[in-house]
Amino acid sequence: MSTGTVSTPPPARSRAEIEQPTLRTDRYWVAPLLTFVVFLAFIAYATFRAFQNEYYYAPPYISPFYSPCISTNCVPMPGAGEVHFIGSWWGLSPALLILIFPLGFRMTCYYYRKAYYRAFWQSPPACAVAEPHGKYTGETRFPLLLQNSHRYWFAAAAVFNVILTWDAILGFRNAQGEWGHMGLGTLVLLANATLLWLYTASCHSCRHIMGGRLKHFSKHPVRYRAWTVVSKLNTRHMQLAWASLFGVALTDLYVWLVASGVFSDPKFF
Ligand code: FES
Repeated sequence: MSTGTVSTPPPARSRAEIEQPTLRTDRYWVAPLLTFVVFLAFIAYATFRAFQNEYYYAPPYISPFYSPCISTNCVPMPGAGEVHFIGSWWGLSPALLILIFPLGFRMTCYYYRKAYYRAFWQSPPACAVAEPHGKYTGETRFPLLLQNSHRYWFAAAAVFNVILTWDAILGFRNAQGEWGHMGLGTLVLLANATLLWLYTASCHSCRHIMGGRLKHFSKHPVRYRAWTVVSKLNTRHMQLAWASLFGVALTDLYVWLVASGVFSDPKFF
């Protein structure tokens, strides 16, 4: 039976009609511009090094761009990268086989999304600044729908961290494979692994894995403790994202310079 009332359709969702692109008067464009320049520099450096396909092993140090080296065309690296899944049919640089994983992790990272959406797509360039695009579909459609795969890249990144930590431990051997060595490169690899662990542990997915969907923290004291620690790290996620990015690039640069003979690795013992 009709009640006699007429329902009013919801108002169409549209953008606010504001003529100015922004009312902000501060230099809001500095941060996205810096992000753009630094990202571009990193992409150029990483692309060059990935295709260079040499100077990535300076015994006992291996570049994080080439670890684990899983193809048979890698230079011999005793104790590291000896698992060759990929046969001789692979003729390109071995770095191209593995960089997809750290790349996928960082590309889908919640912080990096914000950074490159602002710096590259200007979507939007900053808070309270209009974006140049006519419509907005967010991450509800392909390809940005793939951003939801971040939790899987997180798992892959954790595996890579274990491998890079092992590489740092191998830095305590000398070029002949004997334990009891420590050089500047050992410290560089250790610092890189530490930064990568901190960045990965501060991930939003990690925080959810630790404490997400719990109804009673009191019934899960271990997970609560882990969630508390990760939550503290999570407040520094942006800083750790940048620090670990520089850490990876500088570690690779160090190995490159030592492997190419530009300078010798200073040895402490
Ligand atoms: Fe940044 Fe997961 S949110 S690494």
